Amino acid sequence: MKYDFPKGFYWGAAASAPQTEGMSLEGGKAATIWDYWYKTQPERFFQGVGPKNTSDFYIQYKEDIENMKKLNFNSYRTSISWARLLPDGKNVNDEAVEFYNNMIDEMIRNGVKPIMNLFHFDMPLIMQEKGGWENRQVVEEFASYAKTAFKLFGDKVKMWTTFNEPIVPVEAGYLYNQHYPCVVDMKRAVQVAYNTMIASAKAVKEFKEDNNQGKIGIILNLTPSYARSEDKEDLKAANIADLLFNRSFLDPSVKGEYPEELVALIRENNLIPEYREADKELIRDNTVDFLGVNYYQPRRIKAKNEPCKAGETLMPESFFDTYEWPERRMNPYRGWEIYEKGIYDIAINVRDNYGNIPWFISENGMGVQDEERFIDETGMVKDDYRIDFIKEHLKWLHKGIQEGSNCFGYHLWTFMDNWSWCNAYKNRYGLFRVDINSNYKRTIKKSGLWYGNVIKNNGFED
Ligand code: BG6
Repeated sequence: MKYDFPKGFYWGAAASAPQTEGMSLEGGKAATIWDYWYKTQPERFFQGVGPKNTSDFYIQYKEDIENMKKLNFNSYRTSISWARLLPDGKNVNDEAVEFYNNMIDEMIRNGVKPIMNLFHFDMPLIMQEKGGWENRQVVEEFASYAKTAFKLFGDKVKMWTTFNEPIVPVEAGYLYNQHYPCVVDMKRAVQVAYNTMIASAKAVKEFKEDNNQGKIGIILNLTPSYARSEDKEDLKAANIADLLFNRSFLDPSVKGEYPEELVALIRENNLIPEYREADKELIRDNTVDFLGVNYYQPRRIKAKNEPCKAGETLMPESFFDTYEWPERRMNPYRGWEIYEKGIYDIAINVRDNYGNIPWFISENGMGVQDEERFIDETGMVKDDYRIDFIKEHLKWLHKGIQEGSNCFGYHLWTFMDNWSWCNAYKNRYGLFRVDINSNYKRTIKKSGLWYGNVIKNNGFED
């Protein structure tokens, strides 16, 4: 069968500044929470590899963009580093402006449309010292950073996003002790989520007020919640997981309001964050033009085996249990379930419940450990598993598009192996292998050649 994608489909890959640029304390950049955390607790990072050099994109961006062109990319998403652009929070770093201008120009010259994101888990340390997203002042600082970025690069960048996966710093930083500041407190987590949403709406407002010609969106990791059964209690539990992890950003960003059920849940559990009266209007009037969806895995949910005990620390899992679907297939390296149909279910959900807003897959990919096992005699990683992974997801995406979902692109995570936060270089995701012990040398993988052909043909046959 032939899988043709719509004309003008956005093909490419995604990345972020902190995971690729390197030069994390050079070029005038100030520290982020990652630089600080690594300095204080290097043992939290796989094999002690920190954010300092990551994948050397700051130096090698020209060759990388040439390689993107060779693979026929027509688009690429990365982020601007807030701490690089405004190291003291106020004054623009000229070196950063030069770097981002050069990078953007290079992309445009090579026919690769830049999609620029403003925040990818990389809170500047000076902002975290003020309380990070818990402090409303930081929300204002973010809005002013966004305005600066639009002014500086808005003549060339026509697609912007406010946040990548804003729920992740909430979960990882304030619930599950996976990212700095390693807080475990649901009340604070809700405040962080709420203020992040306000920050996103304020950035959209700045964008629209500046009368920018481009479009602005947000990138959300949507994890469809599948209930164990049709039983009322299982369905209720799955709905709560969906409200907390998906709809907490999806609804306000696209529909301009929080789901009533979510507000009720938050209220019943005394978790209402500090807010201002004008916030409701701000969210209502500043919805996004498009949506980026990162899809990696679903959530399998069942009703709680035992109800929470009085006095127990409140967590999302106070409302549901997760379970292992007996038919699941796993990516054992990352510990994530592979469920391709999830991408189709998202496509239909966006079509039916979110006004069929223009959207694209802004991340999807497979992280594999010890990929050197698959290097052949020519030095190429033969990653057939990655080709299969992409192909199977694209088939389901294709079906969603055939059925009318307004999806305009597919971006793989990621173009070249990059630094994955606490997992550092454990799991490799790239179309290019990066040798971190040999000047970050790039070597194309089999999936890179395959993907380049898919783009060339705007689809594939299988
Ligand atoms: C997404 C993020 O969550 O998934 C990326 O936007 C991240 O920053 C990617 O690297 C893969 O996840 P991980 O945790 O394996 O790096």
